Amino acid sequence: MTNLAIFASGAGSNAEKIIEYFKGNDRVQVALIVCNKPTAGVLKIAEKHEISTFLIEKEGFFSQNSCVSVLKEHQIDFIILAGFLWKVPDALVNAYRGKIVNIHPALLPKYGGKGMYGMRVHEAVIQAGETESGITIHHVDEHYDEGAIIFQAKCPIEPGDTPEILAQKVHALEHLHFPKVIAELVASEPKG
Ligand code: GRF
Repeated sequence: MTNLAIFASGAGSNAEKIIEYFKGNDRVQVALIVCNKPTAGVLKIAEKHEISTFLIEKEGFFSQNSCVSVLKEHQIDFIILAGFLWKVPDALVNAYRGKIVNIHPALLPKYGGKGMYGMRVHEAVIQAGETESGITIHHVDEHYDEGAIIFQAKCPIEPGDTPEILAQKVHALEHLHFPKVIAELVASEPKG
């Protein structure tokens, strides 16, 4: 069995789509949800789907490397960042090199980097007068949003589109593509 850990800080709509996609799959499962916010909606989603959770706090995550041991205890093979707002520490990148993917709500390399998340991204894209936006799924390395790009999908920006409307279009692309891209990536990797 290939075990996925999903790291999320927010509502968890992407996490839920991934969980539902792999439900009943006899080769891949979401084995753990890692979260840094006790009130995050993703924790309720984990409870609904009876998936273990691990609540992290800054000290343990960034200095004690406690997360790696928990991931190993759960025999995690891949880490999926789905709206996780902390930067992944180098120790975790090293422990799971090539096995951590992130989804960003814009067409990287533009509109990425520290502080570029959520509505800020869509506001910047519209402010710049772009005629299209989209999603980027990429490998995670030691630098924000700079890992090798795995997949991108685009959506048009119509005149008058607000950041909220763009956010809805981008979220729809995320939900449509992220689970499938993860499945293809996991299938292409030898177990262990
Ligand atoms: C998504 O827009 C994703 O691109 C970004 O964080 C958001 C997560 O949304 N990384 P949700 O919590 O999955 O609804």
